[in-house]
Amino acid sequence: MTEHYTPEHAVYQPQTGVEKWLDERLPIIRFSKEHLMDFPTPKNLNYWWTFGAILVMCLGIQIVTGIILAMHYTPNVAMAFDSVEHIRRNVNGGRIIQAVHAVGASAFFAALYIHIFRGLFYGSYKAPREILWVLGVIIFILVMATAFMGYVLPWGQMSFWGATVITNIFSAIPVVGESLLQLLRGGFAVGNPTLNRFFSLHYLLPFVIAAVVALHIWALHVPGNNNPTGVEVKSSRDTLPFHPYYTMKDAFAMVVFLIPFAWFVFFAPDILGHPDNYIMANSQVTPAHIVPEWYLLPFYTILRAIDFNVLFINSQLGGVIAMGLSMLALLVVPWLDTAKVRSGVFRPMFKWFYALFVLNFIGLTYLGAQPAEGIYVTLAKVCTAYYFIYFFIILPVLSRIEVAKPLPTSISESVLGKANG
Ligand code: HEM
Repeated sequence: MTEHYTPEHAVYQPQTGVEKWLDERLPIIRFSKEHLMDFPTPKNLNYWWTFGAILVMCLGIQIVTGIILAMHYTPNVAMAFDSVEHIRRNVNGGRIIQAVHAVGASAFFAALYIHIFRGLFYGSYKAPREILWVLGVIIFILVMATAFMGYVLPWGQMSFWGATVITNIFSAIPVVGESLLQLLRGGFAVGNPTLNRFFSLHYLLPFVIAAVVALHIWALHVPGNNNPTGVEVKSSRDTLPFHPYYTMKDAFAMVVFLIPFAWFVFFAPDILGHPDNYIMANSQVTPAHIVPEWYLLPFYTILRAIDFNVLFINSQLGGVIAMGLSMLALLVVPWLDTAKVRSGVFRPMFKWFYALFVLNFIGLTYLGAQPAEGIYVTLAKVCTAYYFIYFFIILPVLSRIEVAKPLPTSISESVLGKANG
């Protein structure tokens, strides 16, 4: 067998005097070479591993289109709705920029959910990648907050009523709830101060997210990538340099991802939005059904599922606690699933519970868009219960009782077979 390229040993040597001068002061070329070009990456990463790069692209698209939109948008309750119409009708290229930003939010969440579920299946949250995972969950919460505030800006009916319902959640928190609610809204009801602070924060948060993404990737580059086998890299035969292998794979995946994205932008830019949001906000008319955007629905279902009082906790506070716990479950999953075997591929029992968890999550999404009546109420409770049972019972129990299938001794063995591994 031919000798493999060994990226660990490819130490950067400044070639010219200028490079040497720069390297002693700011080793930026060394950093790029070691972390972007030669970074040793497992050779068996599949396409689920391209979603990190796709997410970086999504964040970039939202920031660029968002900055352009902000040049023409007016954060004032009397003008916001019309200013978005103005962007869509009069501003050069405005229709496309606005559509890319709106569709881009959905694309971002689609990629986020795939990225998270990839991690949950391959056990990418396990040691030594817990901090990487926790930073990911923080990013997820920040992206949800940013998207929620962005949806308020066009000042349509759903913007206004969504903001009213969601900010109201905070009033359930004991002692500080009422003050927190007023602080968020900038008054007793959702109004101009709310719109202003949401605009300010919606502009600010993406840059905070970008900073946390930098930490996320830093935390990734300390232990290096996990991979579909979950077996750690043992030698340079298990890895390839990031460039050109994964730069090309990621670039190809980005282009493929952009195809359905472009379809939505050009052929159905408004299909993901709610028709009521094309009616200007009116505090005197409540829409028949107040529904958040699709990507917030699973957590909205969990919030609504608690419609009963438990001891001194009323249903409203119960819902808020359940929603908070659903985030906490994600945050602490590295310590709930302590199974030694990382990847779901080699865990025969885990696989089934995981598949059910994915279906259950889709169920939670579906139920969030249904009215809280009849069978939907019961189903919402069942799906909410399974969400928690999965994290707090199934994963810890499986960690103790499950017998895993035999693991390959190395990544190269899993790729090339025993003889060549
Ligand atoms: C703006 C959002 C995010 C960006 C830009 C981002 C970016 C990335 C990138 C570039 C990678 C390396 C490539 C890959 O494995 O796909 C990565 C890996 C990872 N991310 Fe994220 N991420 C984001 C959100 C999240 C979230 C929400 C979570 C979890 C809750 C998460 C958990 C992980 C984990 C565990 C890995 C390591 C995967 C492995 O090597 O198996 N990320 N992320």
